[in-house]
Amino acid sequence: MQKVLDYLDQNQPRFLQEFCEYLRFPSVSAQPQHKTDLLDCAHWLVKHATAIGLEAKLCATQGHPIVVAKTKPAPAEKSKSKRPHFMVYGHYDVQPPEPLDLWQTPPFEPRIDGRNIFARGSTDNKGQNFAHLKAVEAYLKTGTPLPCDLTFVLEGEEEVGSENLSEFLSSHRKELNCDAIVISDTGMPSPKDPALTYALRGIIAFEITLRGPARDLHSGIFGGAVDNPAMALAQLLAQVRDRHGRIKIPGFYDGVVPLSKYERAQNKRYPMSDAQLKRLLGAPELFGERGFSPTEQRSARPTFEINGLTSGYQGEGSKTIVPAWARAKITCRLVPNQNPAQIRKAVCGYLKSICPPTVKMEITAGHGAEAYLMEPTSPHAQAALRALEKAFQRKPILMREGGSIPIVNQFKKILGADSLLLGIGLPDDNAHSPNEKFNLDNFENGQRMSAYLWPELAGSGKA
Ligand code: BES
Ligand code: MN
Repeated sequence: MQKVLDYLDQNQPRFLQEFCEYLRFPSVSAQPQHKTDLLDCAHWLVKHATAIGLEAKLCATQGHPIVVAKTKPAPAEKSKSKRPHFMVYGHYDVQPPEPLDLWQTPPFEPRIDGRNIFARGSTDNKGQNFAHLKAVEAYLKTGTPLPCDLTFVLEGEEEVGSENLSEFLSSHRKELNCDAIVISDTGMPSPKDPALTYALRGIIAFEITLRGPARDLHSGIFGGAVDNPAMALAQLLAQVRDRHGRIKIPGFYDGVVPLSKYERAQNKRYPMSDAQLKRLLGAPELFGERGFSPTEQRSARPTFEINGLTSGYQGEGSKTIVPAWARAKITCRLVPNQNPAQIRKAVCGYLKSICPPTVKMEITAGHGAEAYLMEPTSPHAQAALRALEKAFQRKPILMREGGSIPIVNQFKKILGADSLLLGIGLPDDNAHSPNEKFNLDNFENGQRMSAYLWPELAGSGKA
């Protein structure tokens, strides 16, 4: 192990250069004009994984390709003595970088400032999966035997709902059959506080469009005699939540399980005060469902969020119209025990029931995924906690996260394996925001965590 750790120590400058190459691909999965950038990025990964000693291939899908990279079968192990097999899952696609004018430097020209590297995709998720690649490189290049087989699965559609990955899992079930999946695509509360995430929220996405007059109208000539779709949408959305932050959709909270005393106590250990959170977010005040702490509100309670709101004239100056239509992009975050299809039905039913006859409502469904909850007491989870503690020199905390990784439930259903969520992102990394960054101490400790992880996991055995 010391050889592996020394190799990591000695090669950080080169790792950083390679990381910058990875970050320069504008692999924005949501935007069709970047299709070839995703392909180029996937090819780069195949080449890189091959160079560090893995067997790598690019797997085409209906959408963006999946990169699969495996350790070569151990030569001494010709006999079929079953070695443990773990998967490392990550994604090379990134969120759209807009609004561009808020970036201090361009999103795909990585900039290092102190112990941070700024670029779209740096924390979510390229830096986090690259840390694992570098740890495995250290084993392979120092001739240190790995105690298990490893398969990297790096996809290009996580940020758009992972819609082609399930089928890939089903059709490659045998090859991907593994004991557990390791995912570093979540966060930890501070560079000093490593964490094992044992729950993620689920999600449903949809768009509501309200249509009024057949075209934009002169608001002086006709305004007042016809409904304004933007106003109708505002009034409609205003009926979704009460002033205490509770969602008014009938059935929305059915089956939501309250946190146990133990979980509430764990939440209290989360090393961020309400005042610190408020400062971090730059909001005038915090706001959330009454009766729950901010930690609980953003990880263990369901939400209804407007992600985008569009109608009428958006250009400079004024234009006096009644717009023909108004649209909202919505996502709801879901918690364990909420069924995405049922919640979708409840939401659509409620919105339709309160829609006035003066506008026509269209709802288009987007992606959806259940929440994830695993047992942090399992032998694999305990092994992961030991690796975190060795790398970060501090007892890890257990936490739930509010974000979603849609594929984790499919891993459980299709491969029968738990996902160990060992995120190394930070709350101030600006994931999905302008000036996204990744902390370089976390990059290095993340590599060490991955190095420690394989012996711990392989030894945790017959779980
Ligand atoms: N890495 C995030 C998920 C995440 C971040 C989980 C922080 C927990 C804490 C992932 O890349 C992501 O952003 N997922 C999307 C999924 C969606 C597009 C289906 C999300 O959560 O919005
Ligand atoms: Mn993301």
